[in-house]
Amino acid sequence: MNIETRKVEKSRVKEVDFDHLSFGETFSDHMFQMDYADGAWSTPRIVPFGKIEILPSLTTLHYGQSVFEGLKAFRAKDGGINIFRPDKHVERMKHSCERLCIPKVDTETFMGGIDALVKLDEKWIPRQRGSSLYIRPLIFATEDYIGVRVSETYSLIIMTGPVAAYYKEGFNPVKLMTSGDYVRAVRGGLGEAKTAANYAASLRPGEVAKRKGYAQVIWLDGVEGKWIDEVGTMNICFVKDGALVTPPLEGTILPGVTRDSVLQLARHWGIKVEERRISIDEVVSSIKDGSMTEVFGTGTAAVISPVGEIFHKGETLRINDFKTGPLAQRLYDEITGIQYGEKKDLFGWVHRP
Ligand code: COI
Repeated sequence: MNIETRKVEKSRVKEVDFDHLSFGETFSDHMFQMDYADGAWSTPRIVPFGKIEILPSLTTLHYGQSVFEGLKAFRAKDGGINIFRPDKHVERMKHSCERLCIPKVDTETFMGGIDALVKLDEKWIPRQRGSSLYIRPLIFATEDYIGVRVSETYSLIIMTGPVAAYYKEGFNPVKLMTSGDYVRAVRGGLGEAKTAANYAASLRPGEVAKRKGYAQVIWLDGVEGKWIDEVGTMNICFVKDGALVTPPLEGTILPGVTRDSVLQLARHWGIKVEERRISIDEVVSSIKDGSMTEVFGTGTAAVISPVGEIFHKGETLRINDFKTGPLAQRLYDEITGIQYGEKKDLFGWVHRP
């Protein structure tokens, strides 16, 4: 693939304290960029990460016609670079594009862009276990027009940056509260697309939760306020009577790549997997009667995030004595083991750029 490349004069990588990374604050030297106009994507280019010029009339700022992805590259044990399931992320990005009326980018261009960018900025991939290079592809409408209609022009930007754990708790139990009167998504809406609007909907309830000492909210369905959907930054899994239970993909939740990896691993290990609706009442009663032994979130940024406490309608429920459960631990070890090239990549998840 032909990518015009303009490199930085001086890398900023030496300014980075790789031992004290957070999530989403630091960006690598370069970004990949491609524009869409007159019915076609332009020749891709890699340029120094930096400002883009926009007008206040940019349609995306008003109506949110944008989609994004989040995937990770790891410094493997053998010194190589492992990108985790990029094909699956590209596939999801294409679905998101479809829902938001954004012209698709072909898989080869996407993969070629990610590979070239990660290789060029490979010094930015942390060597610390638990840290990685987060890759954030973004497509947004670029027309200067404030009538409501589908844009005719777009920009695709892929940026990367070194990250540590998403939650300040790291791989330790987090506290979650249910979403109360707030709603994230309904069937037929945008819930299964990775688009800005879903995250906009989550901000206020997320802030309320944080003020009360909770990391995030558990979204209940938008119709009955009864069924568990997801956590917004991650999907959610329950261990009940030894089976792994997780809400089905019915249009309101994001089809998580880590969710898919967890289900494949659990099935491979002979664990019963139930993709079914699970109500908050069932969660409450089975935590109380002891049949629900673990709850954990799954996500690219969050990896596996044990849930130690859930607050729902005035009641605080503690799970597994606020300790990481054995399945969450096993999944975390296996997935990160594969990502860092320490464990056998049984399912061909790792891509080498
Ligand atoms: C991810 O897990 O990659 C996400 O996109 C979640 C959040 C950081 C938006």
